[in-house]
Amino acid sequence: MGALDGRVAVVTGAGRGIGREVALLFAAEGASVVVNDLGTELDGTGTDPAVAAAVVAEIAAAGGSAVANTEDVASWNGAESLVQQAIDTYGDLHIVVNMAGNTRDKVLVNMSEQDWDDVIRTHLKGTFCPTRHAAAYWRGKAKDGKPVDAVVLNTSSTSGLVGNPGQSNYGAAKAGIAAFTVIAAMEFGRIGARANVIVPAARSRMTLGTPGLAEQVAEPADPSQFDLWHPANIAPLAAYLAQQSCEVTGKVFFVKGGQIRKFENWNRTETIEQDDRWTVASLGDAIDTVL
Ligand SMILES: NC(=O)c1ccc[n+]([C@@H]2O[C@H](COP(=O)([O-])OP(=O)(O)OC[C@H]3O[C@@H](n4cnc5c(N)ncnc54)[C@H](O)[C@@H]3O)[C@@H](O)[C@H]2O)c1
Repeated sequence: MGALDGRVAVVTGAGRGIGREVALLFAAEGASVVVNDLGTELDGTGTDPAVAAAVVAEIAAAGGSAVANTEDVASWNGAESLVQQAIDTYGDLHIVVNMAGNTRDKVLVNMSEQDWDDVIRTHLKGTFCPTRHAAAYWRGKAKDGKPVDAVVLNTSSTSGLVGNPGQSNYGAAKAGIAAFTVIAAMEFGRIGARANVIVPAARSRMTLGTPGLAEQVAEPADPSQFDLWHPANIAPLAAYLAQQSCEVTGKVFFVKGGQIRKFENWNRTETIEQDDRWTVASLGDAIDTVL
């Protein structure tokens, strides 16, 4: 028996890297998987339908069930047809994992409007669109009195939650995805759905292409050593959170190797308060308490 027997999943960006490992484990755990991938270059340009098809073939060869989808996740209509494909093919939808992504790393003073727009669009709108269409399906089921046990898993990054120079576009999108997911979880309770964030750290073309990181994420020289940066290390947490019995929602989890760490969202901290409007001068005396 698999942990995801009878579940239907859409995994975006599932043709490569972490998304591919999530799709492979989901299928091995019994889920039927729609493998979405546009097949882009790292910067988000180009398309290649063979990328999604290869993962579908891998799943089929291992005895699992999967179909390919090559829609752009940031397209409103494309994401709608992605969700519909899961329902038409497998009769239902329970899990959406938003993993598709690109990078255009540059210090912000050199960042073009296109670099900003393309990265924000792929990550932030590319998370919103599949989530929005899946949520509409789940709300329809809930309104019809049918049971819904659904979950959305979105992908953030320490670049957004902690900050990373050269990634102001990517980091802003990833911080936005965390905020979006926390709000989605607040709204989803009434329709029987959950939402969580995964903050991965793993070897993929994304990290291999980041200056200074390629050596760090390399496979261990000794193959008997635990491969801390293997992208498959991320997949068990995704499968755990995607299970029917799981009740976790609104949470943000960092995962690397064997480490899983909960992130807290923005917190209110030191406060100054008085029963009157501050003046510039009085703030000058008091602001150190907040700083
Ligand atoms: N690798 C890491 O350490 C790391 C760290 C933090 C966050 N992430 C996030 O994890 C996710 C997976 O990244 P990865 O490292 O596996 O990268 P990857 O480049 O190996 O995989 C991303 C996949 O997304 C696809 N894609 C890009 N734009 C798309 C679109 N508009 N529609 C559909 N598919 C599209 C690409 O074709 C690619 O196959 C991304 O969201 C990334 O930002 C990765």
